Amino acid sequence: MRVLVTGGAGFIGANFVHHTHLHRPDVQVTVLDKLTYAANPASLQGTGAQLVHGDIADAQLVDRLVADSDLVVHFAAESHNDNSLRDPSPFVQTNLVGTFTILEAVRTHGVRLHHISTDEVYGDLELDDPAKFTPDTPYNPSSPYSSTKAGSDLLVRAWVRSFGIVATISNCSNNYGPYQHIEKFIPRQITNVLSDLKPKLYGAGENVRDWIHVEDHNAAVWTIIDRGRSGETYLIGADGERNNKDVLELILELMGKPTDAYEHVTDRAGHDLRYAIDAGKLRDELGWAPRYPDLRAGLEQTVAWYTAHRDWWQATKAATEARYAEVGQ
Ligand code: NAD
Ligand code: DAU
Repeated sequence: MRVLVTGGAGFIGANFVHHTHLHRPDVQVTVLDKLTYAANPASLQGTGAQLVHGDIADAQLVDRLVADSDLVVHFAAESHNDNSLRDPSPFVQTNLVGTFTILEAVRTHGVRLHHISTDEVYGDLELDDPAKFTPDTPYNPSSPYSSTKAGSDLLVRAWVRSFGIVATISNCSNNYGPYQHIEKFIPRQITNVLSDLKPKLYGAGENVRDWIHVEDHNAAVWTIIDRGRSGETYLIGADGERNNKDVLELILELMGKPTDAYEHVTDRAGHDLRYAIDAGKLRDELGWAPRYPDLRAGLEQTVAWYTAHRDWWQATKAATEARYAEVGQ
């Protein structure tokens, strides 16, 4: 089986390529990645994947690569909410035009697509609301990032219905684990501690995210590829709801620091309050279950990974923090 993985030099995509190399030795992987600031080709070392440096909005290139594939797993995106508030333009280009380009190529060549998306398409929930997102929750995205991801999901649904392409969609909650860019919450705080900088909490830190280990996300993606029904949306989550303050205090405890050794910084504009996933459809219909639901153990492993892989992140630390400092974060 020949699989084209878009965005495979980014966080979840690179973990997907490693997972595939380990568990699916019969699969031949080609990665298509623009190698933006968010990518690190070193993340693919030891996987045997072929890396093609290019843009998912380049129709000729995408057409040629899709023609040589049996399956496309589409991770490529601009993925960071804070960046989308500063400059939404690459989000519209990559997440919408790029996904459109992929859809036209899979339509032309009759190739199966799995589209990777986010729970943020559903907007947010109140802190005291017992409800969780389900596949029937109406779309209500808040940020330029989440609205372009919502738009990309709708394009996929339209191409299934109008043109009969074979495609599945998954919407996952917040991932953590190795190879995540240090602009994101968990690796930012770990690398702050490792750099003798104070961790930074937006606002009061009451916002809740539903954490899942990236390995569980990628195992779920393969489950959907193997057993999912075309046109269906599957929500991926591991019941990992925690507020940001609790997660930060846990990181500090695991790193042997006082649990109040951080500072509050300017809150994110339009900050979504709470995400929570009901993964019942994936569990009941496709038989998936998370293998790493213990956040404490997963964070311990993640702290150990960033501690042992300074060479992977250190060169980007100063510039990442300088960008945050410009906006008081
Ligand atoms: P990331 O930012 O770490 O990686 C994105 C990758 O896409 C990078 O390698 C980047 O170079 C590449 N890319 C960007 N624009 C491109 C373009 N025009 N052409 C080709 N490649 C391009 O993102 P991530 O956190 O690994 O997220 C991957 C996917 O998963 C995204 O679609 C995101 O919306 C989705 N998702 C992420 C999370 C999360 O918690 N990180 C949760 C749910 C869903
Ligand atoms: O829910 C899935 C989404 O999770 C994905 O679609 C996105 O691609 C991914 O980036 C993530 O979005 P968030 O905005 O939830 O993740 P982020 O790591 O940026 O922030 C997590 C929470 O932590 C959020 O409430 C903001 C807060 N935060 C973030 C940073 C970077 C802080 O308090 N301090 C920080 O320094």
